[in-house]
Amino acid sequence: MTVPLLTPVDIGHARYMALTDPGTAFWALVDKTQVADILAGGPLLDAYREKAGDFARELHALRFGLKPSAVYVNPTERCNLDCTYCYLPGKMRRDGGHMPQDKLLAALDKLRRYFATVMPEGRRPRIIFHGSEPLMNRKAVFAAIETFDDDFIFGLQTNGTLLDRAAIDFLTAREVSIGLSLDGPEAAITDSTRHTWSGRSVHARVLTAMDALRGYDAWSVITTCTTENLAHLPRMIELFHAREVPTCMLNTVRCTLPGARGVKPADPDMARAFIAALDRSHELYRETGRKLVVANFANILIAILAPTARRLMCDISPCGGGRAFFALAADGGLYPCSEFIGLSRFRGGNLFESGAEAALDSEGFRLVTGRDVDAFAPCRDCAIRHFCGSPCPAEAHEMNGGMDRTGAFCGFYKEQVRYAFRLIADGIADDYLWDGWDEGTETVFKHALG
Ligand SMILES: C[S@@+](CC[C@H](N)C(=O)[O-])C[C@H]1O[C@@H](n2cnc3c(N)ncnc32)[C@H](O)[C@@H]1O
Repeated sequence: MTVPLLTPVDIGHARYMALTDPGTAFWALVDKTQVADILAGGPLLDAYREKAGDFARELHALRFGLKPSAVYVNPTERCNLDCTYCYLPGKMRRDGGHMPQDKLLAALDKLRRYFATVMPEGRRPRIIFHGSEPLMNRKAVFAAIETFDDDFIFGLQTNGTLLDRAAIDFLTAREVSIGLSLDGPEAAITDSTRHTWSGRSVHARVLTAMDALRGYDAWSVITTCTTENLAHLPRMIELFHAREVPTCMLNTVRCTLPGARGVKPADPDMARAFIAALDRSHELYRETGRKLVVANFANILIAILAPTARRLMCDISPCGGGRAFFALAADGGLYPCSEFIGLSRFRGGNLFESGAEAALDSEGFRLVTGRDVDAFAPCRDCAIRHFCGSPCPAEAHEMNGGMDRTGAFCGFYKEQVRYAFRLIADGIADDYLWDGWDEGTETVFKHALG
């Protein structure tokens, strides 16, 4: 049997380095002074060699064996905001139509029947109302939630401007997860990327919605990181923590459409600001005992600590688009992910005509599900490729010219993984994760070096 090759990765830690087998996502943190000895052979390599096959099988199942369990549903093409960087085309958001209520109910009925054929007994699939702005078609959305309450776990991602008391009461009574969006700790910063079509501020309205949600356990806020708010991310964290936001996301701006590229931060700036924000979240946790989990970073940590416990599927290759989830557009069109709505090449047919099964097998979906970081440079030679997944295929295709290219933030993702390893080396990774995140996970490799 061939000896698995472990690759040293400098994680920027005073004492430790990571050794990884990039092909299986195995890793170990080792004292820098022992790296040469360990690589020459001995108990760690022997123990890993015994388990390498299990690691490879587990990762392969995660990368190629999943069935869909969620759908992002756009119940309307319209949005009342015109955010600078939106990945949905402006014309669609301004002039588009709603999905009529009877069509939305018929769509969910079709999806319910489809999921009955792929989901394990007793597990409910997720429907996340997304957009554009789903609450612009509120009556239809609420009718769908009422009708299919027992069939799906529901979520709603909204800009928050239409989230009034009645809407909050309706959604929280049914335990619908609610995601909001806010880009700055003060109006001037939010306004530079998120505003109405006439340029009016919506910052205060989102804060009002956040106040109304305080105490509910299933809500979160997305901040899209751009050149406009990068310097303010630690203050963003302070605002979220003070308002008792349970979970937030600090997402890099996806550069699929040209509008986003004008506010794209450089990788080193993105890494610095992101890490400063995470450090601030940790200080606040130490001071108050209350966590504010940054979900997209927590997902990277989990991808390293327990790959199959990942919650988001952007940091894996192929990504979750078109295999773990897919998106339904307001005209019935099926796409691998919301990012692709507006890119006709990726349309995998229509739910009402060809159906979900055919979409999963369509050329548009295969373009995404066939994107494999083991198969193209520079990812195939990267030691952290299975902790990062080279997001996002939509960016790779539209901005960098092909599915066999990296996405927009290769350097940032590398820094993020190095930082995650440093937290693990310092024994504080749990401080950045949801309490109980590892319930139900199993330790498959533990090797103490003398
Ligand atoms: C497309 S919106 C749809 C739902 C709702 N209208 C909202 O604002 O939350 C969902 C989230 O995607 C984010 N978003 C839009 N375009 C993006 C892009 N190019 N890159 C990253 N995030 C983006 C928005 O800021 C928002 O947080």
